[in-house]
Amino acid sequence: MIEVRGLKKSIRNGARTVEILRGIDLTIPKGQFAAIMGASGSGKSTLLGLLAGLDSPSEGEVILDGVSIGSLEEDKLAEVRGRRIGFVFQSYQLIPTLTALENVMLPHELNAPGNARGRAEALLETVGLGDRLHHYPVQLSGGEQQRVALARAFVLEPPIVLADEPTGNLDSKNGQHVLELLMERQRESGTTLVMVTHDAQIAERADRKIHLRDGTIVADELQTAVRTETLR
Ligand SMILES: Nc1ncnc2c1ncn2[C@@H]1O[C@H](COP(=O)(O)OP(=O)(O)OP(=O)(O)O)[C@@H](O)[C@H]1O
Ligand SMILES: [Mg+2]
Repeated sequence: MIEVRGLKKSIRNGARTVEILRGIDLTIPKGQFAAIMGASGSGKSTLLGLLAGLDSPSEGEVILDGVSIGSLEEDKLAEVRGRRIGFVFQSYQLIPTLTALENVMLPHELNAPGNARGRAEALLETVGLGDRLHHYPVQLSGGEQQRVALARAFVLEPPIVLADEPTGNLDSKNGQHVLELLMERQRESGTTLVMVTHDAQIAERADRKIHLRDGTIVADELQTAVRTETLR
């Protein structure tokens, strides 16, 4: 489902070129839950952004369902991003002028016909924010904003969810709850889930653990081969 070939990303910083990703090759089958780990600055968010087509690589390609996203026209890419990928940003990226509910409804409004109000409300309920529907992002704590961002990533039921430390700002109870929610979708809807996490216990529950160091994959372990097999 997600294929990455020879992916490199470097950024010009004045006279210097900083190599952020130095050649990543990776295949993530449909329905897999892959955890991406690695020290701060190792390139995790950069990789996730490239998988979503939010950023373009310096070299190499990202292939989603057999289609190289670098070859897509901007409007086609926007459609792939909008309909097939749910993205939970490390920094949430909620729209400040929209309420929690409106933020969650937005991807649906931009990408699909009809109204997602009921579904958006139910998702916010699921992440424990049923009583915060009409709050604006500034009126919400960091962890609450993180949960709104999570609900938003699911409103279109995308086949791929990319989540950048979705439990990073949550206490252990809410973190556990969010993880259960993500894993339930992954199991029941066959969602492919790629999650950046610093939490070893969370990574332990993934099908696969991928370790980045200085922009390269230094370890890639399959943890529950049986479960992954049955999903294929
Ligand atoms: N636009 C940019 N210009 C220059 N350097 C950048 C840019 N974006 C990222 N970097 C550098 O690339 C490296 C990887 O960044 P990235 O955000 O992918 O790390 P990360 O693994 O997600 O870290 P964290 O765990 O702290 O979120 C960092 O050293 C960062 O400073
Ligand atoms: Mg990051």
